[in-house]
Parts: sequence; structure tokens; C-alpha cells
Amino acid sequence: MSDGSMKERLNSIVASAMESMQKAASPDALNEIRVRILGKKGELKEVMKGMKDVAPEDRPKVGQLVNEARDRIEERMAEIKEKIEQEQLEMRLATETIDVTLPAKKAVLGHRHPNQIALEELERIFIGMGYEVVEGPEVEYDEYNFTKLNIPANHPAKDEQDTFYINKEIVLRTQTSPTQARVMEQGKLPIRMISPGRVFRSDEVDATHSPSFHQIEGLVVDKNITLADLKGTLEQFAKEIFGPETKTKFRPHHFPFTEPSAEMDVSCFKCGGKGCRFCKGEGWIEILGCGMVHPHVFEMCGIDPNEYTGFAFGVGLERIALLKYEIDDMRLLYENDQRFLNQF
Ligand code: DAH
Repeated sequence: MSDGSMKERLNSIVASAMESMQKAASPDALNEIRVRILGKKGELKEVMKGMKDVAPEDRPKVGQLVNEARDRIEERMAEIKEKIEQEQLEMRLATETIDVTLPAKKAVLGHRHPNQIALEELERIFIGMGYEVVEGPEVEYDEYNFTKLNIPANHPAKDEQDTFYINKEIVLRTQTSPTQARVMEQGKLPIRMISPGRVFRSDEVDATHSPSFHQIEGLVVDKNITLADLKGTLEQFAKEIFGPETKTKFRPHHFPFTEPSAEMDVSCFKCGGKGCRFCKGEGWIEILGCGMVHPHVFEMCGIDPNEYTGFAFGVGLERIALLKYEIDDMRLLYENDQRFLNQF
């Protein structure tokens, strides 16, 4: 092959490359052209293979022509690539503008659980009466959960409050009452505290039971505290949480850590005491246990019962929430169904 015909061939390759590059509309299309012409098996490589037919003295010249052809194509390809990229960028900028007038996505706000609403209200009432809020551990020594509350190893009350044992000495607390002993032991007197928290019992789940629920403990210790203080305080609490018309009734009861002990009922706020489905025809609804702190409990916690007296009470938080919001199945409180929770 003569260098003249080589030159012609090269020119035609360059011309056709220029033409197809001019038409290319995307970087991909350009790349195809690169492979077809400059690639390992491309048209320029084919020309190089024809070198063996060129007279040896012409070879450097032809080589130079091939290089020039490649340079021209590559140079033009770079220009076109830049142009295509620029056009694509402009197109994106034009179509992807942000419409600042579109309505924003609504952030979904959380919602307080009925238990939490009831707890906050209860805390507000007692804080208003000068009480402190104290927390105790959920995993508790058997000694605090039972022994220091006057419930020795073989006391029947221990049976009623069967729980989950971590080992022989450590339990999941069955009541918030152990916080009483913990606070009294610190020896800072007088005491006015409430202690809310989770408690556990090995109960089956039903409409009124759950293996895990919440209580609020209350404790007042000072000189000259009497049963009148207990009654006055709890009556005031009942009126604030269930409404000013609420009446209260104290029934004698037994708790190992208080003497005397009582349960407090409130007049049914649904029927006002006449008797209805809500209070099961009784006119009264039981809401808490209470009593005067047992002298033996004082002694075990290092307080002199001849100098100090006190009262204590324990309220079931779920019970308050169920009554306040007229919910008839405790399980609803634990299912976390938004359709239920959003009603409160
Ligand atoms: N801890 C008792 C229970 O779980 C409730 C209770 C009753 C607490 C009387 C008290 C109290 O502080 O004085 O059944």
C-alpha cells in the first residue's frame, strides 16, 4: 500500500469520526465512537496493521499521520464531550428547580400515653403539696421489697405478690413500697415524697392484670403526723384528680408495713354514687392502699418511732388512667395502637 492511499484512508476515518461525533448526543454515544475508532480493535489499529505493506522508508511518515489523525479525533472528542456535559447540566438545572411554594411534608408528632398523662397530673398535684419525686430500682433486693417492709420470709403476703427472681436475694420489685425503706434509711427527715415506677408480678395478662404495671408510692414522715393528715391529703388528691364533687371512703384493710391500714374508695364520678355499670352498681371505686407507717418498719430503717410518725400510700397508675379515661381493658394501654393512643 502506498503512503498516498494510507493518507486517504486516514482522512476518510477522520472525516467519518468527525461526522458521527457531531451527531452524538450523549457521553455513551461518544464512547462507542471512541471504541470503534480508537479502541484495541478499532479502525486506526486496523490501519496500523497495514503498516507492514508500507515501504520501510515511508513508515515513519505514515506513523506520524496515524498519530496526527488520532490527536485530531481525540481533541475534537474532548470538545464535544464537554459540550454534551454542559448541555446535560443545563437541562438538569432547568428541570430540577426546587419549587419553594410546594407544601412541606408534615412531621408526625408524638403523643403522650394515657399513663404518662395521668402520672404527670398526679405528680403536679403532689409537687403542689410540697412532695419530692424519688425513683427506686426496678430490680430490687428481696430484703427491700419484702423484709424491710415487715414481710418476713414465710409471710403469706409474699405469696400474693409472687414475682420474678433474679436469684435468691434479688427480685423484680412487686411494688414501689421498697423506695420507702430506701428513703427512710438515708435519715433525712422530715420526708414528703412520691415514687412512681414500674413493678412486676407473675400474673397472667387479662383485662385487669398484667405482669408489668406501674404504681406510685407516697410517704410522709415527720413529728406529729396523724391519720387526719393521711385522710386530708388523700381526700384532696382524689378531688383534684377526679373532680371537686368526689367523695372518699376509707375501709379498714391489712398491709404488713402500715398499722392501721386502709383502702380508699372514691365515689363513682360517672353516676355520682348511685350505682352504675362503671362502678359495678357499688357507687364506689377502690383506688389505693394506705396506712400509718408501722413502728417496726421505722425501727428497721433507723427512725425512732417514739419521735416520728408517718403515713404511706400506694396507687396503681393504670387504675387511675383507666378510670379517668373510661377505658375498660388494661391491655389497650400496652398495645401501642396509634388509633387508640391518639384519642387522649
Ligand atoms: N404496695 C401495696 C400493694 O402493692 C400498696 C400500698 C398499700 C402501698 C399501703 C402503701 C401502703 O404505701 O401504705 O398492694
